[in-house]
Amino acid sequence: MAAYTTTTLRTHYHDALVDWQQRNFPEMDILLKYWDKYFPGQTPFQLVAKIGDTKSETIEYGKFAGQKRFEKAGSMVGNMFYSARDIIKAQCSTELGSIQQHRMTIDQAISDEAKFAMLRVQAEELRHAYQMFWVLEHDLSWKKPGHGDVAEETIELLLGMELGSHVLDAFNIHFDRFLDNVMFTAVIDLVGKYQLDMQRVFSYGPMARSMGPMFSEEGFHLGTGRKFLKEIAVNATKGQGEYSISDVQQAFNQWFPRGLEMFGNEQGGVTSVTFGFKDRTNGEAQDQYAQECQGIVDNTNLAILQVLVPGIAAEEGKKLSQEILQTGNVVQGVSPEQLVFLPARNFLRKRGPEDVVFKPVNPRGETLTKDNKPLAADEYVEYLKGVLPAGFIKDNEFAKYAELLQAAHRPEAPMGYGLN
Ligand SMILES: [Fe+2]
Ligand SMILES: [Fe+2]
Repeated sequence: MAAYTTTTLRTHYHDALVDWQQRNFPEMDILLKYWDKYFPGQTPFQLVAKIGDTKSETIEYGKFAGQKRFEKAGSMVGNMFYSARDIIKAQCSTELGSIQQHRMTIDQAISDEAKFAMLRVQAEELRHAYQMFWVLEHDLSWKKPGHGDVAEETIELLLGMELGSHVLDAFNIHFDRFLDNVMFTAVIDLVGKYQLDMQRVFSYGPMARSMGPMFSEEGFHLGTGRKFLKEIAVNATKGQGEYSISDVQQAFNQWFPRGLEMFGNEQGGVTSVTFGFKDRTNGEAQDQYAQECQGIVDNTNLAILQVLVPGIAAEEGKKLSQEILQTGNVVQGVSPEQLVFLPARNFLRKRGPEDVVFKPVNPRGETLTKDNKPLAADEYVEYLKGVLPAGFIKDNEFAKYAELLQAAHRPEAPMGYGLN
């Protein structure tokens, strides 16, 4: 039996999201038509809100620990009310944004299986947006005297968001090829998993009870990313398919920094814990995330090595890829260029602590120099064009990075520029 109950939105909001779906994700009809073929025995998709359980009866973290959860948004005062709204808004923006992104390149899927997996991911992101709408619309106390109807305003804003106006940078990047769909579900959806997990403790009850069902669905998204990433890497190693190992590396270079920044400044996040919204600070979660991404890289390398060194065992493969990547040498006939690595945490960063943002470093985190001086901003932008996907170089998000980098390197740039 499912560990949740379901409910629907009031007609007005339900219809508004269905209307959004018809404009932004009309392919959902094909998914529903062939659901049983690709996902036999699995409950067909339904656009509903799912209300799960909470781990504890009371708030577990922060200054309200031990008290009952807030069931009415209106009971949260001051900054807490708007911080909760901002988290719900950001969460919902990621759901809607990713549907708009996946759609751009879904037709380039490497197989029908991959295509239908991505369509399912999109449908589930739509349900997650529906869930966030429910959090806002079923609780009439989001409308507060003197504050207007915060639920209605936020939902309207979300329905109008396009690539470029989403809350987080990762969701404003245009997809250029199907490798983006794959890397995104592997690396960016993984941040989603962490956020949902951290927010299971949320001190506002409706949000806490939304997390469990969303978290279980996220497993399919991560699995989809990892599976097709491996498939692409193996094909590349065999000289098959459209992508090379260098393409895979460049996709890591593009997406991993955006994943890191989705946690917010690694030195922050204390307020969210104080309000009982999350159980960890940004930095703690980001460390765990980076470790898990390293695991994705390790598994991808193992799949590559199993092609290059037939019969190699998992442990041996892990050791071999470490040796090749750390020494830069060719070992057992395998060179570092035939494997992938996780970019350094100070690569391509524009948000976060001062010691990581706008550093002229290569994806390994080493400072690039010319005449014994770190590269100037324009020289570094030129360098980046060689280590990032050509499609991303043309994207507005890259132009924004380049612009902020120039500003940060100007002598008059204020100290701490880039901090958020
Ligand atoms: Fe989601
Ligand atoms: Fe997801």
